[in-house]
Amino acid sequence: MNVLVVGGAGYIGSHMVRQLDAAGHKVVVLDNLSTGFAEAVTAGQLVVGEMADRHLVERTLCEHRIDTVMHFAACALVGESVVDPAKYYQNNVQATLELLEATRETGVNRLVFSSTCATYGIPAKVPISEQTPQEPVNPYGFTKLVIERALEDYAAAYGLGYAALRYFNAAGASEDGRIGEDHDPESHLIPIVLQVALGQREQVTIFGDDWDTPDGTCVRDYIHVDDLGAAHLAAASRLEPGKGLKVNLGTGCGFSVKQIIETCRAVTGHAIPSVVGPRRPGDPPQLVADASLAKEILGWEPVHLDPESIISSAWKWHQANPQGYKIYQRAKVA
Ligand code: UFG
Repeated sequence: MNVLVVGGAGYIGSHMVRQLDAAGHKVVVLDNLSTGFAEAVTAGQLVVGEMADRHLVERTLCEHRIDTVMHFAACALVGESVVDPAKYYQNNVQATLELLEATRETGVNRLVFSSTCATYGIPAKVPISEQTPQEPVNPYGFTKLVIERALEDYAAAYGLGYAALRYFNAAGASEDGRIGEDHDPESHLIPIVLQVALGQREQVTIFGDDWDTPDGTCVRDYIHVDDLGAAHLAAASRLEPGKGLKVNLGTGCGFSVKQIIETCRAVTGHAIPSVVGPRRPGDPPQLVADASLAKEILGWEPVHLDPESIISSAWKWHQANPQGYKIYQRAKVA
């Protein structure tokens, strides 16, 4: 394949780029570097620009004879989407529609889209199958659902072949510690806990221990970023014109915030102080995938099933790059 990875300088996209390259595919990355890092792009050519720039995208698609687009570029923070929904509608909907138009105009009709379990809202029960009603409870989840619907319509009307992959909680880092997760500010549980282990934070705050869950803290399905990449490769190989795949990507196992912190203590050997704070608005108590459809139709199963293995890979990255990618940027400025 000749693949345009939109958002390939970001956390999940950059891991995808490495996997595509390792599998022998040609990779071109389009990223505006608003949250991604040029240093995270370890293969292929990086084009810095906006996915809403029709001229740039159409030229890039033609110049590199792209046959498949993988679209990772999005704003993905639930809380931020509530306070600044315009940013989410502009980036996740408006700009994505421009990207879709550029692919339509140039006849590139194969697309893998990063969707999310946030499209399910607060599910009545877990595990969550693909049949669970999609009733998002925040603008982030809604913007992803809008694009899922657009893809469905584009498939029916224009022959697009697509996969909408509904990630649960992406976590972990490349096995060699070269690339990993770096957000500013960081809001995700595992990197925050590991920053405590590194001495960069005093403690981690547990957002509520009075949820209706086994230990009172929220339960999530943590899926290794390289397992997500493997699912993209499998999905890309099964794209068919005019048809769409919509599948959950998770391990099918849930772990509580307390279990994750405990595992981080075991992996790092640090005490990792924690305190209990109030609930974070908008957090569903439990999000766990029924991942059986992905196995059935993609032949995909995650390799990293236990949180130890996911957290160990993240810890390797954080230890090797305690300042994340910022260190490279400082070096560049100097
Ligand atoms: N948590 C804490 N303390 C922290 C940070 C997080 O207790 O300092 C808790 C959260 O309340 C939640 C769990 O840890 O229960 C995981 O939180 P993350 O912020 O790591 O991840 P989320 O589940 O909120 O978000 C993830 C993705 C989103 C996606 C969402 C679906 O990052 O993109 O799942 O709900 F939309």
